[in-house]
Order: sequence, then C-alpha cells, then structure tokens
Amino acid sequence: KQNILTDTFGRHHNYLRISLTERCNLRCTYCMPAEGIQLSPKSHIMTYDEVYTIAKKFVDHGVTKIRLTGGEPLIRKDVDVILEKLASLPVELAITTNAITVDRFVETFKRLNIKNINVSLDSLDREKFRDITRRDYFDRVYNNIKLLAEEGFYLKLNCVLIKNFNENEIVSFIRLTEKLPLHVRFIEFMPFDGNKWQLDKMVSYEEIMNTVKEAYDPSEIERIEDRPNDTSRNYQIKNYQGTFAVISSVTNPFCDSCNRIRLTANGQLKNCLFSSSESDLLTPLRNGEPIEPIIEKLVRAKFKVRSGMDTLDKFNRDDLHSGNRSMITIGG
Ligand code: GTP
Ligand code: 5AD
Ligand code: SF4
Ligand code: SF4
Repeated sequence: KQNILTDTFGRHHNYLRISLTERCNLRCTYCMPAEGIQLSPKSHIMTYDEVYTIAKKFVDHGVTKIRLTGGEPLIRKDVDVILEKLASLPVELAITTNAITVDRFVETFKRLNIKNINVSLDSLDREKFRDITRRDYFDRVYNNIKLLAEEGFYLKLNCVLIKNFNENEIVSFIRLTEKLPLHVRFIEFMPFDGNKWQLDKMVSYEEIMNTVKEAYDPSEIERIEDRPNDTSRNYQIKNYQGTFAVISSVTNPFCDSCNRIRLTANGQLKNCLFSSSESDLLTPLRNGEPIEPIIEKLVRAKFKVRSGMDTLDKFNRDDLHSGNRSMITIGG
C-alpha cells in the first residue's frame, strides 16, 4: 500500500516541522505585522500530549526528522516536557530559535542529543537589530550564538536580507565564518500575510553572489555539494571554518526535493510553506477519530511547486497567497 506521506510526485515527507507556539519575544517586521496577530484561543493550542501523540503517528509512518519552531518555541512553558517526550521517539530532533533564552537550554539539548540549532540573526549592528526585531536583545542573542558555537552545536544562522537595510552586511556575516564553525544562510525575503512583502525589497540569490564575488576572488569561493533535501545552496570561503549559503525560495525554489510537512501550534497540517488550505488534525484527534486519512489526503493534494505559485509573477498576485498565515504562526 502507498505510504500516506508520499505525494503524487513521489516525494516522501520524512521531515515534520512542528510550531509549538504562536507567540514570540521578538516582533520581526518581515514575520509579523506591527499590531500583532490574532492569537488562537488557548484551548485550540495543542497540549504537550497532543503534540507527542500526533508526532508519534508521523514517526510511525516514516518521519525521521522533527524540527520545532514557533513563534519562539523556547518560550512555551512546558517546552522541557515536549523536548523530553519527543526525544524518546526514534527521530533526529532539531530546533529553530531566536536564541534569546537558549543559554538556559544548553544542558537539556546536550542530554537529549539535540545538535542542530538554527538561529535567526539579521544584523550584526545593535540599532539595526532593534529596528528589525522591534526589541533590544542584540547582546543576548549574539552572546548566545557564541555560546552555542563554543559548545559544539551544529549551528546555522538565518539572515533574511532586505533591500537597502541589511544587504550591506553580507560580507560581515561571511567574515564571521572565518573563525567560527557556523553556517550563515542568507534568505530571500518571502511574502506572508501582514509582512508588506514587495519583490523590490527582496535581495536575490544572484545579487547576493555578485556581492560575494566583489569581495572575494573566484578561486576562494568554493561551492559545496548539496545534501539531499537541503533548502540552501552552500558555499565556503577557502580556509574559513564555517560556510555560507543562500535560501532562494523566491528566485530558485527547491521543491523537487521537498520532504517537509508542517503542523501548526493549533493543530493544522500544511502540505507546503505557502499553502493557504490546511487540514485540522486536532479536532478529530480530540474526538477520537483517525487522523491518518486526513494526512494522506492532504499529502496527495500537494502541488509540485510552492502551492501553485510556480512562477515569480504569481508572488505578486495577492489572491494566491492571501489565504496563508503570518509567518509567525507557520514557523518557517
Ligand atoms: P534544516 O534544513 O532542518 O536545517 O532547516 P531549514 O534551514 O529548512 O529551516 P529553518 O527553520 O532554519 O528555516 C530557514 C529558512 O528556510 C526560513 O526562511 C524558512 O522559511 C525556509 N524554509 C524552511 N523550510 C522550507 C521549505 O520547505 N520551503 C521553503 N520554500 N522554505 C523553507
Ligand atoms: N521571508 C524569509 N524568511 C523568513 N523568516 C521569517 N519570516 C520570513 C520571511 N518573510 C525566517 C526567520 C527564521 C526562519 C524560521 O524563518 O528568519 O529564522
Ligand atoms: Fe519571532 Fe522568529 Fe518571527 Fe522574529 S522571525 S518574530 S524571532 S518567530
Ligand atoms: Fe516544499 Fe512548498 Fe517549500 Fe516548495 S515551497 S520546498 S513545496 S514547502
């Protein structure tokens, strides 16, 4: 019988991203509107038991990697219990965080064998960090990034580039990788509800690489072979400890090898980052009904590329992504 996590294009979804909360201790402009978002009522948010029960079903059907996202996953009060329970499953457990409170979790991560930590950092300049996150936590974040690197985590930095804002920091970010074994990823700005996306605010893969080529000799820029299911095109400057990469979801999507499926904090399944239709898993779970047929149906309804936004001009059509959420409730 057909695996319920394999879609009509033969892509097997063995990577589940779970958003643990819609809340965050930052307010990044590209992620959420200034006025905030309408939060789900608390009773609609999955409990830790429900997170575990749903995750377990996915693992039983072939999921081998779970990444926890948010909002900010580490501000959830019962996050320790969730980590503990999910770590008991036979999966690779990873987390994407803004690192504000990550120092408190270093020992837990080590004990539970959580090695892959992705951290958002869009500027190395304190004022700019405050402008983009609407909060003044640069020092904490920066110190925690150094801490994670020293502690030996496999650390990726996520840097969303915005035109005329932080694109002049590309080389400074790459220089960080000279002495630190971390992986900087420049991300093309993507459209989501309430983030005022415009194509001309986005810095493209091509523009990023042109900047790199102005700063380094071509012989110093080494392309690293992509690993299966990577979202990023990876590079390394010769003799640098770390690497840099570009996540080019807008100009150069990587949907052919997509293996990801997403569960939101309020228990809705998304078959794509850009999907506007979702399937409720939480209500049937609470009613004691099977969720497998719902999962199977949604996986089989998945589009080949970006939920149908297969060409760039479709990003400019509001009707095609207006049904989607704010990024803060998707988790990336
Ligand atoms: P790993 O490969 O597990 O390290 O994670 P990741 O780099 O995919 O995830 P992370 O949470 O660090 O997200 C980094 C950026 O990649 C964010 O801007 C995400 O929105 C984007 N991203 C993650 N998964 C997908 C995906 O399936 N499709 C697209 N288009 N973008 C994605
Ligand atoms: N475009 C691209 N990346 C985004 N992220 C949040 N919003 C956007 C957006 N509009 C990134 C954050 C975080 C990751 C999970 O998603 O930088 O690191
Ligand atoms: Fe919070 Fe991450 Fe969104 Fe910034 S990008 S508001 S840190 S969830
Ligand atoms: Fe997968 Fe959708 Fe991302 Fe493409 S845009 S890689 S289909 S989640």
